[in-house]
Amino acid sequence: MEGIRSDFPPSPDTDVGSPSTSSECDVPCVFSGPKRIFHPFSSKKVKNDGKKLIMDDYILVTGGAGYIGCHTVLELLESGYQPIVIDNCCNATCDGVESTPESLKRIKQITGKEVTFKYIDLLDKPRLLALFKEFKFNAVMHFAGLKSVNESIAKPMDYYEVNIGGTINLVECMKEFNVKNMVFSSSATVYGPPVKLPVAETHPVGKGLTNPYGKTKFFIEEILRDLANAEEGWRIMILRYFNPVGSHISGLIGEDPQGTPGNLMPYVAQVAVGRLPILSVFGNDYKTHDGTGVRDFIHVVDLAKGHIAALQKLSEIEGSKAINLGTGHGYSVLDAVKAFERASQRDVPFKFAPRRPGDLGCVYADPSLAEKLLNWKASRTLDDMCVDLWRWQSKHPNGYKTEPNGNLKTS
Ligand code: NAD
Ligand code: UD1
Repeated sequence: MEGIRSDFPPSPDTDVGSPSTSSECDVPCVFSGPKRIFHPFSSKKVKNDGKKLIMDDYILVTGGAGYIGCHTVLELLESGYQPIVIDNCCNATCDGVESTPESLKRIKQITGKEVTFKYIDLLDKPRLLALFKEFKFNAVMHFAGLKSVNESIAKPMDYYEVNIGGTINLVECMKEFNVKNMVFSSSATVYGPPVKLPVAETHPVGKGLTNPYGKTKFFIEEILRDLANAEEGWRIMILRYFNPVGSHISGLIGEDPQGTPGNLMPYVAQVAVGRLPILSVFGNDYKTHDGTGVRDFIHVVDLAKGHIAALQKLSEIEGSKAINLGTGHGYSVLDAVKAFERASQRDVPFKFAPRRPGDLGCVYADPSLAEKLLNWKASRTLDDMCVDLWRWQSKHPNGYKTEPNGNLKTS
């Protein structure tokens, strides 16, 4: 059964209830609360000579064809911004070289608005410079990069080159064209093993990182902090995501991992839809309420809205600011599996397996800084995430491609 929520089409301020679990590492849930409507230009305070974003300004979105990027592009369009997307499609589905990625075509279907797309690799600096010459950007949202933990262990130099080299190219272009507003996709992985829960932005970063992917996020953060300290005028929001899950309520866009998924929820969804036979639950001896790992899952639409909130508040910060985007609530692997079974009305067979090397037992955010500074908080529940993920997965069992010939599906 497909669980279409009654709030479709969704309103941006929908409050959809609160979860409840009990765990040693649980914190009070933060889902409920006053409803809030974000206006793109509601901010009154402008410090220094900070220019406020205006509707006509272009926002460069790197990696905007990917999972989180495309959900954010959709929110940008809905909020009246003009995103210009670049992507090299190394992890996005395109019907041939340099054609518009499938995710962006679907966004046109959803919003009725055309997205300007340029096929550009961040490592191709001459083309990046030409882009900055063509468009006057007010801000950059930087999603592009490689993100597989396992691949980063096998091919560390690719990760350092693309993630760090690509970011340096981008920042150099921004400098040359005096574009100093940026929202960067970082990760909770920069915290390493938590010394205190919930994890706040004051938690040490860069210690005990076990893979090159995580290190690139930490190194990029450091580069951006150094830059913002050294030169005037930079306004950089570093957003540390916890565990993004789900998809837009239309079911037209979603996460489409290439190969076997490394992350939990895409794996669960592929088991439910029959693409994979059984889930391995990595570890059942953690100090959590059921022994399995606990994470702070956040709906990708909440995450995308968090980016809009950050963009709107850029003019109010000086230098750089790191902010958690999470819900503040931890769920275990088994909680998530059960929620997915409820949403999909299907069994998700699983077996216990040894702990995954480098895994952490329990991680969840203190999201209070985001609420204070960005006037943003996550409103969607784990059940919402599962319902929306299942809608995408069941409509598109093989992601943007049809099986097995690899052709694109158009609906
Ligand atoms: P994604 O792979 O779906 O999107 C990244 C996009 O960047 C892809 O479309 C890819 O084709 C593009 N890209 C990669 N290298 C490029 C290059 N050299 N030039 C141009 N485009 C390039 O990943 P996502 O899940 O949407 O993640 C977006 C960002 O958020 C990444 O930086 C990722 O590290 C970060 N992040 C993701 C998660 C998560 O769980 N998905 C968690 C924390 C942080
Ligand atoms: C992982 C990455 C992290 C990255 C994040 C988001 C590691 C060590 N960390 O974090 O750097 O920022 O993804 O992309 O890989 N699980 C299973 N079976 C599975 C898959 C996962 O039991 O098939 C469990 C894991 O053991 C963990 C939980 O599910 O307890 C969440 O795993 P995952 O979705 O990979 O996210 P993280 O481990 O938080």
